Amino acid sequence: MKSQVLIIGGGPSGLLLSQLLHRKGINSVVLERKTKEYVLGRIRAGILETGFVNLMREAGVAARMDKECFVHDGTVISYGDTQFEINFKEHTGSHVVVYGQTEVTRDLYEAREAMGGNIIFNTEDVTIHDADSDAPYVTYSTDGTTHRIDCEFVAGCDGFHGVSRQTIPLTIRKEYEKLYPFGWLGILSETPPVHDELIYSGSDRGFALCSMRNESLSRYYIQCSLSDSPDDWTDDAFWRELKRRIPREFADKLVTGPSIEKSIAPLRSFVTEPMRWGRLFLCGDAAHIVPPTGAKGLNTAASDIHYLYNGLEQYFEDGDSEGIDRYSEKALARIWKAERFSWATTNLLHRFPKQNEFDLKMQQADVNFLRDNREAQSVFAQNYVGLPY
Ligand code: FAD
Ligand code: DHB
Repeated sequence: MKSQVLIIGGGPSGLLLSQLLHRKGINSVVLERKTKEYVLGRIRAGILETGFVNLMREAGVAARMDKECFVHDGTVISYGDTQFEINFKEHTGSHVVVYGQTEVTRDLYEAREAMGGNIIFNTEDVTIHDADSDAPYVTYSTDGTTHRIDCEFVAGCDGFHGVSRQTIPLTIRKEYEKLYPFGWLGILSETPPVHDELIYSGSDRGFALCSMRNESLSRYYIQCSLSDSPDDWTDDAFWRELKRRIPREFADKLVTGPSIEKSIAPLRSFVTEPMRWGRLFLCGDAAHIVPPTGAKGLNTAASDIHYLYNGLEQYFEDGDSEGIDRYSEKALARIWKAERFSWATTNLLHRFPKQNEFDLKMQQADVNFLRDNREAQSVFAQNYVGLPY
């Protein structure tokens, strides 16, 4: 089999790239290790930058999102007794939207299927060959049979644990990593959101986040120990802990109910450089991870897709390789800024094991500065709604 672009990974990055390329007449094949049901069962991000929304529109898959999403013009920040709102619209003229990654992925799968897109599920042993030559190819097996696809380019959209990044030799690849000494325990519950904006809350018991998916579906997170397992947390224990970490006015009106999903994610900052090796391009979680504070994970994946898609279009339409040659440089310039924002917001609002009283005073001073300073709020808002592509 032959394909212009071979995409490894059928998560949001791979599907969005495949859909955008299709609309420009560039064909692709997507290889996904799991089943569609498995990919759609993963509850992850919920906040989309307008850059992401615009890409979904360009891909022709935004109709349901435009109808069902919530527009958020601001967010609540709280830290101990300090509580204030940062208004994105006032500072940037822009906003974010609430629309779950599960819905984004579902819309993309529906569009790919409607257009006859080639997505192969349950692929095993995916291997990239000759990525640094002009004739790369990929092998994989399904049901014990090995297959080969020749292609012009390989897009590694296979997440943090995929094969694409590992294909780049260690003599060329440099990885930067920071692990945080805690995780986030998240639950999804069929209850109305506690507030019409998100609440990012630092407390003496640790961080908490109140988020949502729609008017009757809420997403809540609490900072937890890395050694915790979701089974250690009954729903009652989760709600009790959440209430202790958010401002009283919200705790008093929080509607609780049974969780329909409960999971723990460790927090990590990670970047690999370069994001291109020969004809292999890394996108999304395959190349970088942010801690979730600030909602940048899925949004940085989207900016990679923007740069790669434009570069490939320029190459296939005009024979000009400038866009793909500068892919790694352009993507990384934006990634590092999102890494900084996610790292800084994590540091601002979480409890760290070795924090002393001085460290806590510094956190409080940082929060107070953000509360009192318009420029600081503007910087936060610019980062939150998403830096320009
Ligand atoms: P992925 O979504 O990881 O998709 C990669 C795909 O590649 C997967 O479907 C995988 O099965 C497939 N794959 C992997 N290896 C292979 C292989 N060898 N062959 C073929 N296919 C392969 N971001 C936020 O902004 N907010 C959040 O609350 C949030 N929560 C998260 C919780 C968890 C547990 C995780 C892991 C991430 C979370 N993120 C969050 C980050 C966000 O979900 C990711 O940034 C986003 O999913 C990246 O999309 P992607 O397509 O690049 O990678
Ligand atoms: C959500 C996740 C985040 O990491 C975040 O910063 C905001 C919202 C969410 O899942 O809704």
